[in-house]
Amino acid sequence: MRAVTTSILRLDGVTRTVELPDGAALDILRGVDLEVSVGDHVSIVGRSGSGKTTLLNLLGLLDKPTSGSIYFDGVSTDSLSSRSRDRTRGRHVGFIFQQFNLLAGRTALENVVTPLLYASGKQFWRREKLALEMLDRVGLGHRARSMPETLSGGEQQRVAIARALVRGPRLILADEPTGALDIETGATVMALLDDVAEQSGAALITITHDINVAALARRHYRLDRGVLSALAELGGAALGAAPGIASVVSPPAALLPSSAPKELAR
Ligand SMILES: Nc1ncnc2c1ncn2[C@@H]1O[C@H](COP(=O)(O)OP(=O)(O)OP(=O)(O)O)[C@@H](O)[C@H]1O
Ligand SMILES: [Mg+2]
Repeated sequence: MRAVTTSILRLDGVTRTVELPDGAALDILRGVDLEVSVGDHVSIVGRSGSGKTTLLNLLGLLDKPTSGSIYFDGVSTDSLSSRSRDRTRGRHVGFIFQQFNLLAGRTALENVVTPLLYASGKQFWRREKLALEMLDRVGLGHRARSMPETLSGGEQQRVAIARALVRGPRLILADEPTGALDIETGATVMALLDDVAEQSGAALITITHDINVAALARRHYRLDRGVLSALAELGGAALGAAPGIASVVSPPAALLPSSAPKELAR
């Protein structure tokens, strides 16, 4: 039964434990609670090894928690078959990765069309038109027939954003989306992502080392050795508690001069 809620994703006491080759248990995520609603933009910052990718895999229904529950659109995913999880993911979740992950040898348009090949009805039959409209929205309509390798990094990430959004997902998961871009390009791409996500009413979760990228989100979390905690504000003592994360309050990257260090937070 579907609960009436604007909550898209809810994690209740989620843990993820793996067994190491010597038989010891490694607790990667410990008691993670998180609720994300329509129109939210949430950032999660954490140093390397804190469990960010492990958490992202759970948020995107790519993996299952060891204990605790994950609700998608008010429905528990705990007992969903892997087919239902795949379907929910394909229909409702868009992914954006640091290395863009575009298909080589396929045009920008073909890349953006790809998720629609798994759609049905109008979305499937109108796939080229929808993909072109989406490329237009990220300012790349004129490069629809270009191969990814002929596009700049920022352009490739804009194609990846178009691909992530073309099916109108309710949740967008971005893992270090600006990690391979220079600071100015990263700021432009991030502002675009924030904008397109908001226009389409999707929730956006950005996982990043970069405090400037995190600053664009409306709510902030820190992951520290598998423990997720909400930050009242970004920067200052709260972030300073995590080694490797800048302890200064920074304006969004878009406001920084181009000479500013790319990643204050690394
Ligand atoms: N399947 C696994 N088996 C054993 N250890 C794992 C497994 N998956 C993750 N880990 C360990 O769990 C910790 C968290 O990994 P994770 O990839 O989530 O970190 P991360 O925060 O994404 O780091 P980075 O910023 O470097 O990408 C790491 O110490 C990693 O070695
Ligand atoms: Mg990672």
